[in-house]
This record gives sequence, C-alpha cells and structure tokens, in this order.
Amino acid sequence: MTGRIRNRELAAKVMDADAAASLISSGDNVGMSGFTGAGYPKEVPGALAKRVAMAEERGDPMKVGLWTGASTAPELDGALAEVEGIEMRLPYQSDPVTRAKINDGRMDYTDIHLSHVAQRVWQGVFGELDVAVVEVSGVTEEGRLIPSSSVGNNKTWLEQADRVILEVNAWQSEHLEGMHDVYYGTALPPRRMPVPITRPEDRIGVPYLECPAEKIIAVVPTEAPDRNSAFSPVDGTSQRIAGHVLDFFDSEVRAGRLPGELLPLQSGVGNVANAVLAGLRDGPFDGMTAYTEVIQDGMLDLIESGKLRMASATAFSLSSAAVDRFNRNAADFRDRIILRPQEISNHPEVVRRLGCLAMNGIVEADLYGNINSTHLMGSRIQNGIGGSGDFARNAHVSIFVTPSVAKGGAISTIVPMVSHVDHTEHDVDVIVTEQGLADLRGLSPRRRAELVIDRCAHPDFRPMLRDYLERATESAYGKHTPHLLGEALSWHQRFVESGTMRP
Ligand code: COA
Repeated sequence: MTGRIRNRELAAKVMDADAAASLISSGDNVGMSGFTGAGYPKEVPGALAKRVAMAEERGDPMKVGLWTGASTAPELDGALAEVEGIEMRLPYQSDPVTRAKINDGRMDYTDIHLSHVAQRVWQGVFGELDVAVVEVSGVTEEGRLIPSSSVGNNKTWLEQADRVILEVNAWQSEHLEGMHDVYYGTALPPRRMPVPITRPEDRIGVPYLECPAEKIIAVVPTEAPDRNSAFSPVDGTSQRIAGHVLDFFDSEVRAGRLPGELLPLQSGVGNVANAVLAGLRDGPFDGMTAYTEVIQDGMLDLIESGKLRMASATAFSLSSAAVDRFNRNAADFRDRIILRPQEISNHPEVVRRLGCLAMNGIVEADLYGNINSTHLMGSRIQNGIGGSGDFARNAHVSIFVTPSVAKGGAISTIVPMVSHVDHTEHDVDVIVTEQGLADLRGLSPRRRAELVIDRCAHPDFRPMLRDYLERATESAYGKHTPHLLGEALSWHQRFVESGTMRP
C-alpha cells in the first residue's frame, strides 16, 4: 500500500476509516468524489453511516450535506440514505434507497446541471464546504494526487474544503496516471477566460489534482472495487432505436451537414443510450471521437473496435465485466481517453464549439417536443437532469431516445403534455423511439406534433394522440401550440389512479 502513497508527510497521516469519519461533524457540508459508480470513497462513507446510526441511538441525530460529482454507489449514497444521515443531497443521484427517501419527503435534493455545480460552490450558493472526502489512485513523492476512475468535482472539493480526507485506492489501475487533464484556469466572471479546447483530444491542464498537505487531515487506504451496475442486454427495442439514429447520421452525412467521421459524440446514461453506442460499433462511421460525460461499456467497445479514435469524459461508468477489461488493458487506453473535471467535460462553450452530437435518454416527450428526463408522473424523481441540459442546449444536434412505451405498455412515453419539463422544445432537435425518428428542426409546433405522433408514438396510443391534437386544434385558446388544458395531463392522472394510461 505504501507504494501508492509516495509522499512521506501524507504517509504519516494514514488512519482507519472510523478514525477519519470521526473528523466529520454533524451539520458539515461534505464534498465526496464519485461520478456514477466510479471513483467514490469506499470506506469513509460507511464509517460515517455507522456514526450517524450511533448518534441516532443516543437521541442526538447527526446529518450532513452531501455533495458529489453525480450518482455514486450503495456504499456511499445507499449507506448514508439508509440511516437518514443526509440533510441535502446534490447534484444527481440514482440510488434506489436515496430515491425512495427523497420521494418520501425525508431527504432534500436539489437537481442541478452538472456543469453548474462547481461555479455555484465557488459562488458560495450552498454555504461553506467543510470537508472533502476524495478517492485518488495514488500520491506522488511531491504530494500531487493521482485521480482515480472519475474526476467530477474533485478539483473544486479539494480547493474549497477546509479539511480533506483522502482515500487511496490500490484497486484502481496504476496506469490511470497520465490519463487525466485537470484544468486550473477557471474563474468566476468578470475574470473568466475562454476554455482553450478546440478538439476533443486537446489537453489544457495537468494530470494531477493539487491540495496543500496541511489541509489533508487523514489518509485512508483501501483496495475496494468500483461498483457500477450492469447494463441491460441490448434488446430488439434498443436495436431499432439505434438503427434509426444511425440512419439519421447517414442521411446527415449525405446531406453534407455532418462530416464522414461525424462530430464528437455525447451519449447519456441509461440502457438505451448505451445500446445506441453498441449500434455505432456495427455502423459505417470510422475515426469518430467523443466529447461526453461518461465512458460506458458501449463507448469502451467502440474504442476497442478502433471506430472511436478517442474519448474525452469526466468518469468511467462501466459494468464490472467492462472494468475488468479496462483494468487489464489500462495502459493501452491511456492515449485514447482523457478524464477532465465535470465543469470542463460538460462545458457549454466547448460543447457548442466542438458541435457535439448529443444523445440522451428520457422519461417522456410531448407532442411539441418538450422533454421530461427526471420525474415520473410529474412528481416522483427518478435520477436527475445530470448533464443532459449542458449538452442538449449547446449541441450541434440534440437527440433524445426512449422506448415508445414503459411499464409493459401501460405508459405511453409520448404524451399530450409532459408532466415535468427538463428540456424545452427549443432545445430538442430529434426524438427517437423504436417506432421511428422525428426530425423536428425547422417545424412549427403543429407540424412537430403530427410528426411525433406518426413517427414516434406506439400504434396503440396514436389514435388517442391524434384525437387529442384534432380536438385541441379545433377548440384551443390558440392554434399555434394547441392544448386542451383540462385534459393535457389526464393521461398521467389516469395512470396514478388506475395503473395505466389506457382508458
Ligand atoms: N413513466 C414512468 N416510468 C417510466 C417512464 C415513463 N414515461 N419511462 C421510463 N420509466 C421507468 C422505467 O419503467 C424504468 O423503471 P424500473 O426501473 O422500475 O423498471 C425506469 O423508468 C428507467 O427506465 P429505462 O427504460 O430502464 O431507461 P434508461 O435506463 O434508459 O434511463 C432515464 C432513462 C431517463 C431514467 C435516464 O436516461 C436518465 O436518468 N436521464 C436523465 C439524465 C441524463 O440524461 N444524463 C445524461 C447526461 S450526460
């Protein structure tokens, strides 16, 4: 283990997780590393959860504010949510226990664009950051920190926190050293300067995280693995969705609107987005690049196949099988993968400059192209907006993908009006389901609605949607974006009351 902590001053601060967790106080805001199930601290959160449970038993409840890069894993989110040790959670989660506590009203959650988190913290919007708990894969002789499988908000946590606890994880590949690009040129306005990335492969920072040794109050060794859940196998529905996206790219190339190697890909989280990447592996495009948020299994496959020249992201989000593959060949991937802080991986300026092709999963879309990515039936949070907004508004083409039905066909994902809005019609270019693809660019709302019904809706729900559109067009207050306000959300209400959107 000492091989990973090559700096003497920090080697002298090694302690166990219980001792380190005792340095966190009730009411502290704690910034933890972690972005999907990658690079999160494995030991201290569990020890902190034990302290919270003991404090509860003593009748002296303990809670902390928990800030991360994005979702983490059961050992972090799950453990702390289980004992109700989280006062306020931000910015993105996907843990079942955390989700249940938020939806039961027992935990506060603020869902923020992932590129916005760092600057909000620099502005002091969420209050002081008391403690950072950050996983690294090693410490150099000079005390520089080698990041692990995610970068996320770690630079900001290390800069802003009063006290820092490091977890040094020897399970992470040693070959991660040199893969990261941590940019220290960010500032708040009026001192903000352009981010000088003009190609996904540009390196503009340093491969290490910096932190003054005197701020580091504990170093906890671990060898625990990352824990990402497996993706669902690519099924016929996802394959058809991927096929429509590929046909669309093909026609854009033929129309001269995209180069033959496409533009940098961004692919969101979720099974369907992962399946689209699998489709690209078998498609005709070579020499592709990615400027994206996470590298999931499908992206790793694309790199291995040689179709993807390189990928820039902030984190891995791999199933355990893919992690094994990555760790076995990490040295080979080092020249083809760059991990950056999330305010850079998701930076609107860079996304716009590079012209990313954004592909993100959704909960539902409405006739006019508004998108709900986060809330079931308008009120129950699923995960969060993540980076979808960072990319969607600034992308060259913003594509949203979903199966046309959910819950065994009880729910149409194409509805008269979305029950929550994450992306407005102005940020949505293309909607794809297994039924087909609707290219909404340049269309008026009513033409959009006709196309979405004809191309994307499930045949079982098309007559109901057509009927709604016809009656709305007849009698709505205005014919530009016709709605029957008393009926627009009646499908959702029917599901809440009867378990199906079908009449
Ligand atoms: N109404 C109710 N439930 C719905 C639904 C709808 N319209 N659409 C999907 N669901 C349910 C599914 O039934 C499933 O529930 P289950 O877990 O109980 O089976 C769950 O939502 C997830 O759906 P799934 O089809 O497995 O989708 P996915 O894994 O492709 O994820 C999102 C879809 C929307 C949840 C996911 O893409 C997401 O969180 N997106 C927002 C963040 C984002 O885009 N980040 C990327 C930025 S880089």
